[in-house]
Amino acid sequence: MRGNQLTVASLFAGCGGFDLGFKSEGFRPVAAFDIDPVAVRAFNANIVDVAKVCDLSNTTPQISADVLLAGSPCQGFSTAGKRALEDPRNNLLVRAGEIALTIRPKIFVLENVPAAISGRHGSRWEQVEAMLRAGGYMVERFVAEGLASGVPQLRKRLFLLAWRGQIPVQCDLAPRVSLPLMETIGGIGDASGHDPLPFRQGSREAFIAARIGPGQKLCNVRISPAAVHTWDIPEVFGTIDLSERSVLEAIVRLRRRDRRRDFGDADPVEFERICSHMGRCCHAEVERLISLDYLRRVGNYIDLKHTYNGKFRRLPLVGPSPTVDTHFGDPALFLHPREHRGLTPREAARIQGFHDGFDFGDVKARAFRLIGNAVPPPMAGRLAHFVRDALLPVAA
Ligand SMILES: C[S@@+](CC[C@H](N)C(=O)[O-])C[C@H]1O[C@@H](n2cnc3c(N)ncnc32)[C@H](O)[C@@H]1O
Repeated sequence: MRGNQLTVASLFAGCGGFDLGFKSEGFRPVAAFDIDPVAVRAFNANIVDVAKVCDLSNTTPQISADVLLAGSPCQGFSTAGKRALEDPRNNLLVRAGEIALTIRPKIFVLENVPAAISGRHGSRWEQVEAMLRAGGYMVERFVAEGLASGVPQLRKRLFLLAWRGQIPVQCDLAPRVSLPLMETIGGIGDASGHDPLPFRQGSREAFIAARIGPGQKLCNVRISPAAVHTWDIPEVFGTIDLSERSVLEAIVRLRRRDRRRDFGDADPVEFERICSHMGRCCHAEVERLISLDYLRRVGNYIDLKHTYNGKFRRLPLVGPSPTVDTHFGDPALFLHPREHRGLTPREAARIQGFHDGFDFGDVKARAFRLIGNAVPPPMAGRLAHFVRDALLPVAA
């Protein structure tokens, strides 16, 4: 503590979503480090001018703070990516632990995706926990969900909470209330970073968007109320009759039911299997569906041509948004709940809980990267509240 104010520093700070949440609970940011100059500029412009460009894979900053935060990259752990065990970014989790043990703050908070502890990937997280315990810290895990953390999205994040000393603390964090999604993105007016771009009338995207209702997505690999199939959009993908449609739906089910491989969640289907399932020969339908590009041959098997599973995902009118990630600005992936367009950076920032004054710069792709990478400030604030009131009083 310097003066009366608790201090916080952060590693892999990005634009400072994590830090902003701690600042809102009365902590004073005193240092922040990130390899990305764009992120550092945003941090300095919006939080406080203490961030520095730094490659933490080979540098250990010499700083002191009551609380140290670290949000190391999650791409190597995330189920949205390849989950390569040897992704070099995964080592940064351990680097964060090593740096924490050099700085020895009273409290260390590490953040990542919950998949960081699933399967063999969990060994790095366990290594950090073991290092901290051996270094004189108590260690607990906490998974924060978006809705219970004050943001209307499905985002889940895993936190490691470490405090110096030997006094155990139950890490049950009080929930926060979130505004409904439509209220969160309503009334943006002319806030910066809000430049809605509707699809051009008559374009492929406009036709697709017009068929996808709130909470639905373009998805050929499931039969469910949320899945709109390419064959439900004949103006773009071509008209078929009812009997061809029933063959397509049979293939959607069979490719998931009759598994031959032990990876993926679906396989191409044998022509005879389609016929036996339908109780008749489907040669004519299958041939026409191939000619219309709905189906394709894979060796001796038949498969869907387009195995979309979650394109043009329209946000719901009621209920939380999907997780805001770095691709959230791609209109072929995410649609506004009502309008036929993608989301603007300001809408994404609001769903993440950033205030409208936070400036992510003028380059959209960079803004979406900073926003999608951030710990939602209200989620960070929930952690900060607990750290201040429950952990700091017992930390040695
Ligand atoms: C998940 S983001 C952190 C977001 C941040 N916690 C927030 O709330 O805004 C991970 C960050 O790690 C940074 N990074 C990746 N490799 C790095 C390295 N070797 N040294 C320092 N920062 C690095 C990236 O630039 C990115 O900003």
